Amino acid sequence: MSLSIGIHDLSLATGEFVLEHTTLAAHNGTEIGKYHVGIGQESMSVPAADEDIVTMGAAAAAPIIARHGTDRIRTVVFATESSIDQAKSAGVYVHSLLGLSSATRVVELKQACYGATAGLQFAIGLVQRDPAQQVLVIASDVSKYDLDSPGEATQGAAAVAMLVSVDPALVRIEDPSGLFTADVMDFWRPNYRDTALVDGQESIGAYLQAAEGTWKDYSEQGGRPLGEFAAFCYHQPFTKMAYKAHRHLLNYCGYDTDPGDIARALGQTTAYNTVIGNSYTASVYLGLAALLDQADDLSGRPVAFLSYGSGSVAEFFAGTVVAGYREHLRTGANQEAISRRTPLDYAGYRELHEFKFPADGGDHATPQQTTGPFRLAGISGHKRLYQRR
Ligand code: CAA
Repeated sequence: MSLSIGIHDLSLATGEFVLEHTTLAAHNGTEIGKYHVGIGQESMSVPAADEDIVTMGAAAAAPIIARHGTDRIRTVVFATESSIDQAKSAGVYVHSLLGLSSATRVVELKQACYGATAGLQFAIGLVQRDPAQQVLVIASDVSKYDLDSPGEATQGAAAVAMLVSVDPALVRIEDPSGLFTADVMDFWRPNYRDTALVDGQESIGAYLQAAEGTWKDYSEQGGRPLGEFAAFCYHQPFTKMAYKAHRHLLNYCGYDTDPGDIARALGQTTAYNTVIGNSYTASVYLGLAALLDQADDLSGRPVAFLSYGSGSVAEFFAGTVVAGYREHLRTGANQEAISRRTPLDYAGYRELHEFKFPADGGDHATPQQTTGPFRLAGISGHKRLYQRR
């Protein structure tokens, strides 16, 4: 008998600060319409000097632990492409900050922005094998490009934590999945850089090619017709990209590309991404959070997911929203995580952008900036020191 497995709880966190695109546009002389309309972004989250993927990931997961306890969590999957260490999983720090049992497996996954979807699918497999266990999947990223580069306006930072279990309260994930991999150099970050490199137009083309490839495979595997979905959660490096991808799929499938219909299918998935910016692995699940928090009752309705990670790997899959899901949402907390951010002026943003620990093995404390539940206190002897505030 096939089990009902999926997302039982979903929680998000983001950075302490926010840079409005109007501030960036005033600095670099860009006409604001390019940001607000052309790429569909209003503002971007910027982490404090004492925040990173660990503090955001722990902040996203802590409310899930508070609600469900730790007893059934036997696996933590931490997905990121802004890793802080080449060996140790960021998830181990989160495991410690949250006080999870030592009888837990913890691992970090990487394939650009696709990593969290790999984590979700792995989690489903683990729960299928042992239905008593729950898997904590955390997606956490800081998106950082060079100052004054075209990618700068598409930065952002956020974490999403998802508890995966049988009989989920929010979304039941379905088979089949449509899969696509191609060896392309559209976006990458060599180990010696802390900012990403990107070929902007190539990356848009690679995303569209991957969207089409996953859809083709999804259809061949016997998936639902495109017209059946109530909404579409796309990976959103900038929210306009979701519109480009959806128009592309509609065209490919021979459907009408009426802008009103496209806006109805996507509009409610972009509300958080448009003010947070690119959160890489978390982006597609921020889209889901925004949809569930804002849409009219979706009980029993299928929702489509298109997860894209540059390089590139992509997956198209479906989930059915579970009846009664609205009682389990965290709408107030999600909106508070966004509205509580402190605005930065350009000089403050630039200072944080340039902040870097010296690699000398000495003691380096961070300034106390975050008002979140966890902070990176500094480094000492090349070791990162985290604390609960
Ligand atoms: N009013 C309204 N619209 C305007 C405008 C104005 N005043 N000025 C320009 N625009 C429009 C342009 O017409 C264009 O729209 P279309 O795409 O519909 O043609 C849009 O604004 C952007 O303009 P440009 O293409 O000229 O902008 P750009 O050269 O500065 O680059 C970008 C845009 C390529 C997205 C760049 O921001 C970038 O490199 N971003 C990072 C890479 C990225 O996000 N790629 C997405 C796919 S890869 C992926 O998904 C993985 C990931 O997370 C990175």
